[in-house]
Amino acid sequence: MSVKKTKIGIIGLGSISDLHLQGYQKVEEAELYAICDMNQTRAENKAQQYGIPHVYTDYKEMLANPELDAVSICTWNNTHAEISIAALRAGKHVLVEKPLCRTVEEALLIQEAVRETGKTLQVGFVRRYDANAQLVKRFINNGELGEVYYAKASCIRRLGNPGGWFADPERSGGGPLIDIGVHVIDLCWYMMGRPKPVSVSGNTYKKLGNRAHIRNLSFYKAADYDPTVNGVEDMANALIRFENGASLLVDVSFTLHAKKDEISVKLYGDKGGVELEPELTFVTEKHDTILNITPQTDNKSLNVHEAFYHEISHFVSCCRSGAEPISPVEDGLEMMKMLCGIYESAAKGIEIQL
Ligand SMILES: NC(=O)c1ccc[n+]([C@@H]2O[C@H](COP(=O)([O-])OP(=O)(O)OC[C@H]3O[C@@H](n4cnc5c(N)ncnc54)[C@H](O)[C@@H]3O)[C@@H](O)[C@H]2O)c1
Repeated sequence: MSVKKTKIGIIGLGSISDLHLQGYQKVEEAELYAICDMNQTRAENKAQQYGIPHVYTDYKEMLANPELDAVSICTWNNTHAEISIAALRAGKHVLVEKPLCRTVEEALLIQEAVRETGKTLQVGFVRRYDANAQLVKRFINNGELGEVYYAKASCIRRLGNPGGWFADPERSGGGPLIDIGVHVIDLCWYMMGRPKPVSVSGNTYKKLGNRAHIRNLSFYKAADYDPTVNGVEDMANALIRFENGASLLVDVSFTLHAKKDEISVKLYGDKGGVELEPELTFVTEKHDTILNITPQTDNKSLNVHEAFYHEISHFVSCCRSGAEPISPVEDGLEMMKMLCGIYESAAKGIEIQL
């Protein structure tokens, strides 16, 4: 007897949607059942490309389909709260792209809807699902680093403002901090054991604009790329303090006069350290000697396709079993407190108590 598949709908069919579509294609228990984009041509093209039978331009109509079990939300950040809540109330499970939403208030409303409906909601903190990240998490959980008291993360794009809605604060909620900072802050915070953030101090800068005039370098763009829109910061930095005394230092940019793009995610404990990016390496001490240890794994750093596949297969499995996802709504809410606190700190020029 064949097992009933989980029927999936994707809302938002722009740049990131292919990684969702390809992820679900590989999950045996899932079936790509419906897709929706307010841009009809885009929706029809994707439906044809992936052989998906039901096409919508209005997500509410899609959610009214009783056959649908779960949705991926890959739309602009300003719609994440509204669509997540509508989907949960329509009885669907939700995988919502990062950031969970734009504000703490929106995050609280989503959390309330998750608790009321009892449906699964997984936040798309995709870096948690990378094989190297899960490996490091196992090491940390087994005490290999001892107490992790400091973390440091950078995600520097010298040229990489995706334009369009990403650069419109009303639709995005902010610039590189909320868009790419969210990934590296979350990864550090998750590895640190999700300590309670107590205060943040941050700076944002708008000095260079999006540098759309630069030639000969390509970068990630919104499906409706428009360089004439740009109201977000070029770069941000922040220090986050946690209740257990640990701290996290971060800097991120869409544009910066940096020599090259840079990603680093580093954690330091009293027994050892680890660099997840740019290249997986543990650091420790044995017999009065410092050792840099290189785990032998398929990838030295993030494998995006594999991480999306793991994220999506975990989501389908949680939908089917009712288990709590490893990136639940509560973590999305804590992240919004940190991100919004950093923006508030930068605007006021003071440290913010959370
Ligand atoms: N996890 C990651 O690494 C990662 C990477 C890139 C983007 N993202 C996130 O994915 C989301 C989408 O990003 P993108 O780069 O694909 O953007 P995009 O602009 O390329 O695509 C967004 C799509 O959503 C559609 N859309 C917007 N509002 C809609 C609505 N109300 N109903 C139906 N369709 C709607 C647009 O028409 C567009 O086709 C964002 O939240 C972004 O932060 C995550």
